[in-house]
Amino acid sequence: SRRIACLAALSETHQILQKTCREFANAELAPHAARHDREELYPAQQVQRLGELGLLSVTAQEEYGGAGLDYQAYVIGMEEVARGDAALSIVMGVNNLYLGAVQQHGTEQQKQQFLAPYTQGQHIAFYALSEPDCGSDASGLSTLAKKNGNDYLLNGTKAWISNSKEASGGLIFTTIDKALKHKGITAFLTAKQVPGLTISKKESKMGMRASSTCQLTLDDVPVPQSQILGELGGGFKIAMQSLDCGRIGIAAQSTGIAQAALELATDYAEKRLAFGKRLSRLQLIQQKLADMALRVETSRLLTWRAAWLKDNGLSITKEAAMAKLHASEAATFCAHQAIQILGGMGYVTDMPAERLYRDARVTEIYEGTSEIQRLVIAASVIREYAS
Ligand code: CAA
Ligand code: FAD
Repeated sequence: SRRIACLAALSETHQILQKTCREFANAELAPHAARHDREELYPAQQVQRLGELGLLSVTAQEEYGGAGLDYQAYVIGMEEVARGDAALSIVMGVNNLYLGAVQQHGTEQQKQQFLAPYTQGQHIAFYALSEPDCGSDASGLSTLAKKNGNDYLLNGTKAWISNSKEASGGLIFTTIDKALKHKGITAFLTAKQVPGLTISKKESKMGMRASSTCQLTLDDVPVPQSQILGELGGGFKIAMQSLDCGRIGIAAQSTGIAQAALELATDYAEKRLAFGKRLSRLQLIQQKLADMALRVETSRLLTWRAAWLKDNGLSITKEAAMAKLHASEAATFCAHQAIQILGGMGYVTDMPAERLYRDARVTEIYEGTSEIQRLVIAASVIREYAS
């Protein structure tokens, strides 16, 4: 009923989408999430189903095979998928992040080659910004793009690249000259099966274990000039703009994890007896449920507000950072409390609480750490004050 209160604010299309995604996640995602996590298994079949439902390309244009929906639809789908299987929602998030950049900045030819094939699950994409020596300080990246006739040769190492094991291609951020700082950053579209591009390491992770995270080594990788996305030296703006949108997605993902933790804890508290009554009748347990519910709700509201701003063509940098910061901290809080409410059962793999806890943790790290979100928010606050 709590969710229905939120539902009232949604259009009929969004309500239908929410119901469809929820039923899909309950039936086809949640039952397999524990095994995929335990075995670090890429959920290929579920990715295929995401593609069929339009969830891998929610906001991409229909003429290229995208679902052609808005960001409100995106955050609804993302929350429900993450509630069912958070690791799978990374595959969805990164693919949508990639497509957002190509849609906004790609030429017609680039869209035919690098957008259309990635919309419905036939192919999955990666988004390679971070490096071993440089994550938060994205403008300090070192992967070098050197001109070589009509090609560029890319050299360097990309770290933590989600989807990269299964991906057919993606976006690689490079610099044409480190001395130019952020004005040298240049984004290249490329297939993965190209000479010199190899996966040098697959990470073994605390959570989100069904999603691959790999290091990519680039050794004289040839990429034609026509595969530069946007302008030479324009890559940093592309990264920042696409990450603004991506952060709304991570906020929705975090809300989904927090919601799953709340539902699990409430269900357990209603069934478990202690001192002759249900846990849910103990006020200290009620306090935890109340604090969790509050955070779930505020996360969803901030996320929906950021999506609404985006859908209405307004600036989202501050609001997306706020949504991502708040929702990611809410997800770790709620998963932590869920373990507490479940007691010993929270700590073992028979129940999903410990997985939610492990999955939640990274939402405070990727697509900009909580510290970086605070820097972004503060910069906006100070700018607004000065203007
Ligand atoms: N939109 C448009 N332009 C922006 C912008 C935005 N949101 N943010 C900054 N810019 C522009 C600035 O206006 C400035 O432009 P001018 O040259 O025209 O003045 C330029 O970019 C440089 O801005 P800053 O000086 O503010 O840049 P900075 O070097 O201080 O960095 C930062 C700012 C916010 C810390 C940025 O580096 C950042 O976001 N770091 C975090 C990186 C990150 O989020 N990585 C995620 C990797 S992807 C991922 O993780 C995928 C996954 O989870 C699954
Ligand atoms: P660092 O930047 O070294 O930061 C270390 C610590 O210092 C953090 O707490 C940070 O907040 C803090 N810190 C840094 N600078 C400041 C500052 N100025 N003020 C205050 N504190 C600061 N990247 C991609 O490009 N593509 C992907 O698909 C992708 N997927 C990922 C998937 C996973 C599972 C993980 C773990 C990471 C992924 N990343 C991806 C990388 C992720 O975006 C980075 O890990 C993140 O941006 C932080 O960078 P870093 O790890 O280098 O930490």
